[in-house]
Amino acid sequence: MSEVRIEKNAIRSLWLEAVKEVAKEYPGTDVPWYLTLSGAEARDIQLLIDEGLLSLTEVGSIKENDQHKVVAVERNNQAILELQKKLPGLKIKRAEFRDLIRGDGIFSWPQGDDEKYCRAHIVNLDLNNPLRGATCNGEVTFPVLSWIRKLCQLHARSPRYDWTLCLTLHGEVVWLEEVNTWTKSFLAENLRREPDFAKGCREFLGEELVTQVTGCSPIDFSTLDRTGQQKIIMVMVPKMIAKLVHNEGWNVSTERNLSYGQAGCAPMVTWIVRFTWSSDGSATPDALYRAALKDILSGAGVVTDRGQIETESYC
Ligand SMILES: C[S@@+](CC[C@H](N)C(=O)[O-])C[C@H]1O[C@@H](n2cnc3c(N)ncnc32)[C@H](O)[C@@H]1O
Repeated sequence: MSEVRIEKNAIRSLWLEAVKEVAKEYPGTDVPWYLTLSGAEARDIQLLIDEGLLSLTEVGSIKENDQHKVVAVERNNQAILELQKKLPGLKIKRAEFRDLIRGDGIFSWPQGDDEKYCRAHIVNLDLNNPLRGATCNGEVTFPVLSWIRKLCQLHARSPRYDWTLCLTLHGEVVWLEEVNTWTKSFLAENLRREPDFAKGCREFLGEELVTQVTGCSPIDFSTLDRTGQQKIIMVMVPKMIAKLVHNEGWNVSTERNLSYGQAGCAPMVTWIVRFTWSSDGSATPDALYRAALKDILSGAGVVTDRGQIETESYC
């Protein structure tokens, strides 16, 4: 974890911009600005300190007045010890993120401080895991995406807060046959129903892959090359998020949809997604869904090994 990846620095600067905006908009908010899986080194939080968004005392602790602004969630005890040493005064929630939000289901919900943390203006899930799919009674779910729906439901509580998700995943496909089959038919149906989405996908994924997805033969997405696998996940994740939350009145805008990781490094994918409440959204969920699809690929691109963000509009 200690190596400095230039691509990752470019991504951290996107997160920093998001926190700056929140700090400007909500200087005295009652929920944290930023909930993060910062890791032992807390490089993202260090950036907030360097930029003056958090202040330190003379002995290097986060000042009391700023301590409510940022919360780090960490499940690894060693990382917690290092974090405590590096940034005294930092609020650290010792937990598996799934336990913090009380699981993927809707029967249990966080209370008290845990609820407050989950309602942070920015939630940064910087995960090294791939997008795992689970099957239950013929239904396919993606647990990480269920967390995101749950976070939307928590942000919709009174007082409702618009919020931003930063999500990073390993960009390899690791799905069982049922998940591949489900993904193929989900994408195929949307390609048939949404001409603009289909046009963007043809440009982004290539004609050949789109023809495979809409064709009759099964696909094992894990046999695609590295870039193909990253691209399928880049299409799937924002599409699924829009599907999961549009009924609840959230306008979903995929501001960044990027891949990174050169040969020899792990292939990664990362997104910045804004959720803004639409006052008439619950009355017109279909309109919200279509609007969300529009920008899934409009900011898609790569972070190069020089840390440059290269995007192209595929729509
Ligand atoms: C990829 S690192 C974070 C890197 C950091 N964001 C940065 O900018 O350098 C992820 C950290 O989150 C912790 N972590 C990963 N998944 C977690 C989960 N589901 N719940 C709690 N902590 C988790 C890991 O132990 C690790 O310390």
